Amino acid sequence: MSLSAEVRDYLADSYPHNHDYLVKGGELKPRWKLKRRWRRLERLWPERFGSFLDIGSSKGFFVLEAARRGADALGVDIHEGDLAAADAARDHLGLDKARFEQKTLDELAAEGARFDLVHLVNTYHYLYFGSDRAPACAADHRVLFEHLATVTEGALIFSNCETIERCPAQVRERARPEDAARYNPDELREAASEHFVIEEHRRLGKRPLWVGRRR
Ligand SMILES: C[S@@+](CC[C@H](N)C(=O)[O-])C[C@H]1O[C@@H](n2cnc3c(N)ncnc32)[C@H](O)[C@@H]1O
Repeated sequence: MSLSAEVRDYLADSYPHNHDYLVKGGELKPRWKLKRRWRRLERLWPERFGSFLDIGSSKGFFVLEAARRGADALGVDIHEGDLAAADAARDHLGLDKARFEQKTLDELAAEGARFDLVHLVNTYHYLYFGSDRAPACAADHRVLFEHLATVTEGALIFSNCETIERCPAQVRERARPEDAARYNPDELREAASEHFVIEEHRRLGKRPLWVGRRR
């Protein structure tokens, strides 16, 4: 199935720009910051994994890569435009093992779905504080990591701002002071450590990067 110029442009140049990629000759070509991020993240991926979940999958690059490696790969996001563009890329590339759904983490956890490898990259602050795209917020690290533990069978790759000062302006503006006060590395890591053994890696851009393995 051919990919329209409009979708190609959207995948190559739209928010978030650190997730811009080209589809060329049946291949995915990450651009700019995604190229650098992917080099780092790819090294953390196990050689083999049967299933993959990307929470906040955006334009779908990581999900398509996981499907290309043979995994049953699911991307969830709340943005219809991103999901539609990622679906079009999947159809064009014939990557039938990739799926994209408009779903939240709590819905997935309630379904009891489990995945060998889970990605939560640059999205945790939206789950905690809510966003313009999805105002519902958990404002509770324990609840979020309980859900993450429910959906993770093997490893969780996590990278995110861990203080309110480092979050994007739209998050800082909407955050309630009492929720912002609890948004710090100590409380986040304490909740994560109840379910995951944390292995620290060098920062991904300005954000901490770690892999959590299920206890
Ligand atoms: C900054 S982008 C990060 C995209 C991707 N994870 C990456 O690292 O390139 C944040 C993504 O999270 C999505 N998002 C925001 N709130 C969400 C929610 N409650 N559930 C799932 N996705 C959400 C946005 O639509 C957006 O695609």
